[in-house]
Amino acid sequence: MNKNLVSLMEKMTLDEKIGQLIQLATPFYMGATDRGQITGPMVGMGIDDNVVLNSGSVLGASGANEVINIQQQHLKENRLGIPLLFMSDVVHGYKTIFPVPLAIGCSWDLELAEKSAEIAAYEAAVSGVHVTFAPMVDLVRDPRWGRVMESTGEDSYLNSQFAKAQVRGFQGTDMTKDHKRVASCVKHFAAYGAPEGGRDYNTVNMSERELRETYLPAYKAALNAGSEMVMTAFNTVDGIPATGNKQLMRDLLRDEWNFDGVIISDWGAVKELIPHGIASDEKEAALKAIKAGVDIEMMTACYVKNLKELINNGDIDEGLINESVLRILQLKQKLGLFDNPYRGADARLEQEVVMSDAHRQVSRELATKSIVLLKNEAILPLHKHQKFALIGPFASSNDILGPWSGLGSKDDAITMNEGLRTKLGDSHLLVAKGCDVETRTDSQLNEALLAAKDADVIVLALGEDSEMSGEAGSLTDIRLPQVQLDLIKKLKELGKPIVTVLFNGRPLDLHGVIEHSDAVVEAWYPGTEGGVAIADLLFGDVNPSGKLTMSFPDSVGQVPVYYNHFNTGRPKGAPDAQERYISQYLDSPNEPLFPFGYGLGYTTYTYNNMRLSATEMTAEKPITLTVTVKNTGSKAGVETVQFYIRDLVGEVVRPLKELKGFKKVHLQPNEEKEISFTISEKQLRYHHSNLEFSSDSGKFIAYIGPNSRDVQAIPFELLK
Ligand code: BGC
Repeated sequence: MNKNLVSLMEKMTLDEKIGQLIQLATPFYMGATDRGQITGPMVGMGIDDNVVLNSGSVLGASGANEVINIQQQHLKENRLGIPLLFMSDVVHGYKTIFPVPLAIGCSWDLELAEKSAEIAAYEAAVSGVHVTFAPMVDLVRDPRWGRVMESTGEDSYLNSQFAKAQVRGFQGTDMTKDHKRVASCVKHFAAYGAPEGGRDYNTVNMSERELRETYLPAYKAALNAGSEMVMTAFNTVDGIPATGNKQLMRDLLRDEWNFDGVIISDWGAVKELIPHGIASDEKEAALKAIKAGVDIEMMTACYVKNLKELINNGDIDEGLINESVLRILQLKQKLGLFDNPYRGADARLEQEVVMSDAHRQVSRELATKSIVLLKNEAILPLHKHQKFALIGPFASSNDILGPWSGLGSKDDAITMNEGLRTKLGDSHLLVAKGCDVETRTDSQLNEALLAAKDADVIVLALGEDSEMSGEAGSLTDIRLPQVQLDLIKKLKELGKPIVTVLFNGRPLDLHGVIEHSDAVVEAWYPGTEGGVAIADLLFGDVNPSGKLTMSFPDSVGQVPVYYNHFNTGRPKGAPDAQERYISQYLDSPNEPLFPFGYGLGYTTYTYNNMRLSATEMTAEKPITLTVTVKNTGSKAGVETVQFYIRDLVGEVVRPLKELKGFKKVHLQPNEEKEISFTISEKQLRYHHSNLEFSSDSGKFIAYIGPNSRDVQAIPFELLK
C-alpha cells in the first residue's frame, strides 16, 4: 500500500470513508441555489450536504469549467481535501460522435476503434472527465433488446478484440502522466446482454459453463487490457442480481481473475436489490452489495445511510470498507488527482480540441467503414449526373448520433441531405419527407411522390428514431414503423430504382424493405459525420467494406438467431433428415436473413487454393491455414477475410462454427494476396462440463470465407 494513502486513511473518519463509496450526479454539487435541478428519484434520496461534501465521485459533469468549479468548491469544503473523481458515459465519443458501437463492430477495424476511443478520451479528459463508463462489452443475440447498439455484437472473440482495443484507446499506457486519457470502466458485469425476451433489465438465465464460454471472455479481455474499473449489471445471474452477487464479484473478479480495481454499481442497482427480492430494505441491500463486492454505489444512498450502523452492529467488518476506500483512493492517485485535482480539465484546450477537424475526419472514416451494404442490384454506386429524390423521415434528420452520444449535439451532425449536397450541389436533388418516423400526413406523401416522379433514382432514408433503441428501448416488433413500410410500397409503384439507407440501432426484420429496394445500405447511427460518410459510399468515393457483427433475423420469431449455434440432434438439411420431425420452423427458414460477417462492396473477391501446412497438429506444432484472395472486380477494395473453426466431437456440444481470426486485406483490381492464419492448440480450448478449459484431441474443420455462411472447409486433426 502506498504510504501516503495509508496515512490519509488513518486520518479519515468512518463517515469520510463511507462518503468515498457514494457516487452522485452533478446537480448535487451545484450549490444550494441550483439544487432545484435535482429531480425524479434523486429527490427521494434524502441525503444531506454532509454526504455531498464527503462524497467520492461525481457522475456526468460536462465541461472543464463545470468540473473545475465543482472540484474547487469541494476541495474548500472537504476536510482532508480529497479530490472528487469525475465519471461520465463517453461511449462512442464525447462531443465528436463516432458511429454507435454495433456499427464500430461492423468495421472490423480494431486500429480505428482504438483511435476513436483515444479521441473520445482526449475530448473527455480536457473537459474534466477522469473515468468513462465504457466499453460496454455485453454479448448480444437478441435485437429486441434496445442496448444491442452499445455492443460490438454477437461474437465473443470479436467482442474481446474490440474490448481490448477500446480500453487501450481510452487509457493509453500511463494515465498518471498522460492526462489526455481517461480510465475505463468495463460494463455491465455480467451477461446484461442476455435478458429473457429481450426486455431490458429482465432475468438472465444461463449455465455457468455458457457464461464462461460465451459471455465472460470480453469482460476478461477488457481487464487483461488494464481496464481500471468494472460496472455491475442490472440483471440477475442464476437467480442472484449481479449487484449483490458474491460469486461474480468476490469469487470470480477478485479471487479468480485477481482484479484489484474499483467495482461500481450501475445506476441505482444497489437499491434495486429490494424490488429484485433479495433484500427487504435499504440496510439489507447495502449489506448484500458491500459483502458481494460493490465498492461504489451509484446514485442511491443505501451505503451512506446504513454502513456505519452495520459496522457498529458487527454485521460487517470495517475492513471491508477500508478495502473499498483504498481501491478508490488508489485510482485517484493513479490518475494523478492528488498532485493535480483538475488533471486534464482545461477550458482553453477544450475549445481547441473538442470537435476539431481532425477528430471529425476520423469519425467520417470510421462511419464509412462501419456502414454495411446489404443488397445491391447493380444500382450503386450512383452517378452524379443522375437526378435524385431524397425521401424519408431521415432525409434531413439530424437524429443520427444514436443513444449514449455523450455531449454530442444533433446540431453538429451532418444530415444525409447535407451530405449528398457535398457531392451534387443543389441542382440534382429534390428532398421530401414522405412521412415522419411513426406518423404521416397526406401532404407529406404527396410531396414525396411528386419529388420521386421527377427523379431517376429514389434515395430513401428510413429508420428508427434514437429513442427506439438504447437503454429501456426494447421492442417486440423489429420491423420499421408501418408508415415507412407504406411509403416504400407507394414509391415502388412508380417503377423507379430505390436505394434505401437505414438509420437504426438494432438488426431489423427487413421484410417490406428488402424486396422493394434495389439497394439497401445499413448506416446504423453513423455519428457526427454520418451524412457525408453515406454520400462517400453511395457515390463510390469509398468502397463499402462493413460486415455485420450481429445476424439480421428473417423475422422476430426466430430470435435469438446467431451464427455460432449448435447443430441439434435433428438438424435441418442432414442427409437422413425426416420431413417433419426436424429442428425447424414450419413458417420460416432457420437461417437469418443476413448472417454474421455479411456485407457487400462494389467489387467481387474469389477465395482460392485453401490449404493447410499439415493436416495434423499438436500443442507444440501449430499449423498454418492459407487462402488466396483475389479482387476480381474493377474497383479497389478492402475485404475482411474470416476464419472459423468447428470442433466435430466434444465432451460437450460445440458450436457449428466459431470465429477464430480475421484479416482485412486491401486489394487493387486483379490483385491477389495470400492470407494466412495460424491454428494453435490454444484456439481449440473450451469449457468442459467440469468447467475445465482445455482442448480434446480429434477432428476439426477450418473454414475461411467472406462471412459466416459462405465458407470453404478443410479438415484437420489435433493429436495429443
Ligand atoms: C446505464 C449505464 C450507465 C449509467 C450511468 C445506467 O442507466 O445502465 O450503462 O453507465 O446509467 O449513466
